[in-house]
Amino acid sequence: MAASTLPQDISDVELVHLARNAMKRAHCPYSKFPVGAALLTESGETILGCNVENASYGGTICAERSAIVSAVSQGHNKFRAIAVVTGLSEPASPCGLCRQFLVEFGDFKVVVGTASNSKILTTSTRDLLPYAFTPESLDIFEQEKSSTSKVSQDDVKEHDAVAT
Ligand code: THU
Repeated sequence: MAASTLPQDISDVELVHLARNAMKRAHCPYSKFPVGAALLTESGETILGCNVENASYGGTICAERSAIVSAVSQGHNKFRAIAVVTGLSEPASPCGLCRQFLVEFGDFKVVVGTASNSKILTTSTRDLLPYAFTPESLDIFEQEKSSTSKVSQDDVKEHDAVAT
């Protein structure tokens, strides 16, 4: 197979094109604001997402999260890029909750496009969420917890040695 036909060679523009198609599947009877997403997995597959609204409005899931949920359900948890498209004439970047959801899976490219023109904003999950709370934060907590409990165990031993 020629290198150019490898799936991971998909360009930002092509990824935006897929997101535009995904946008057509949006279930958005309440906001009437369709959003499409196309996620490029590390293995080069593309997985689509769209916003899925609910009559109980808080149950709504954004396009970005719908793409991630779909990908993870299919066994993917490493990503190269996500493209997001809305009907606005300027690229509209992901909402706060989606930024948090995306950065959970590391630092990867975010390409924001529009349905109507070729304007593209290229950023990354990390740049979209400075000072992010990530899985590493929890790892650090675990490390700090175990070093703190070691210190207190040492304190107890020292205290016992003095007492005897
Ligand atoms: N929406 C997304 O799908 N992604 C975002 O990042 C922002 C908002 C959806 C949620 C809702 O269905 C509609 O857009 C209006 O907020």
